[in-house]
Amino acid sequence: MSINRRGFINLTSLGIAGFTLQGFVDKASINGQKPIVISTWDAGLNANKGAWEVLSKGGTALDAVEKGVMVTEDEISCCVGLGANPDRDGYVTLDASIMDHEFNCGSVAFLEQIKHPISVARKVMEKTPHVMLVGEGAQQFALSQGFTLESSKLSDSAEQSYKNWLKKSTYKPVINVERQSPKTATSQLEDKFKAPARLSNGEWNHDTIGMVALDANGNLSGSCTTSGAGFKLRGRVGDSPIIGAGLYVDNEVGAVVATGQGEDVIRVAGASAVVEHMRQGKSPQEACRLVVEKIRSIKKEKAADIQVCFIALNKNGEHGSYALHSGFNYAVHTTEGNKLIESHFSV
Ligand code: GLY
Repeated sequence: MSINRRGFINLTSLGIAGFTLQGFVDKASINGQKPIVISTWDAGLNANKGAWEVLSKGGTALDAVEKGVMVTEDEISCCVGLGANPDRDGYVTLDASIMDHEFNCGSVAFLEQIKHPISVARKVMEKTPHVMLVGEGAQQFALSQGFTLESSKLSDSAEQSYKNWLKKSTYKPVINVERQSPKTATSQLEDKFKAPARLSNGEWNHDTIGMVALDANGNLSGSCTTSGAGFKLRGRVGDSPIIGAGLYVDNEVGAVVATGQGEDVIRVAGASAVVEHMRQGKSPQEACRLVVEKIRSIKKEKAADIQVCFIALNKNGEHGSYALHSGFNYAVHTTEGNKLIESHFSV
């Protein structure tokens, strides 16, 4: 856990000699952990295991965040990988991004019939002078790099969901949370909430998988992969493949990834904004909270209809999250194990 500013002030007021600002920084870094990987939603528990195989052997954060989210891309779920819900024309289109500790980054958007968009994003980063490839061009590039064209057939669960959606065909992105009555910020830690969980048909119920990691060498990287909003307009791209919106890494400061309503993350350059708050000395959780509150103030009463969430990891291995509504959680893997943490939320 991080030591917040109040903790620092309390210690000094107790008269602990020599507890200087430098002491605060040193203590924080002792309490931070490395290696560490954190990722969004309950599916992050499995994804973290994939990342930990890399990190525990002294591997890089970059390799870890690619391997980690590939686990989720292989699972059948509503919102990640080829088994996910299609757009409103019946096609699964995928977005993904990756960023390392040296501002190298790559992404793909509106990519079809490729199993691991995160690995294509990494190839864009490493093999091209570009940051982003989309649609048919991204698919052609993937094939040129040895990726295989998969079937366009929907998974059984996606087909069922699509048939249900077609009955009304209303375009209304749905936030993936179980809404609860408003809670005060101070009561949230103790609250039990109903987190998304594996459904009776074996599907994971979650949103975008986003992951950030700090390796044993102290380097940060991040990744993000999604099918975006279910039954979206054909061609719609969310925040996940947009560097600075869905994902941002500054190795001097921290790494941040977003999940939820991509349009509202894009309009505030969400992940980058959280990193900048950390640069100004805010804890990961407080930095996430400030950006969520900004989105809430922009959306006004429409904030009731969307969910946005951020997770953040700073250079010291301290982590935090914040969501607009209840129901968000994130998975944390350190040498002490892999666990799910309930996120603080705004309303
Ligand atoms: N956050 C995922 C999306 O909006 O596409």
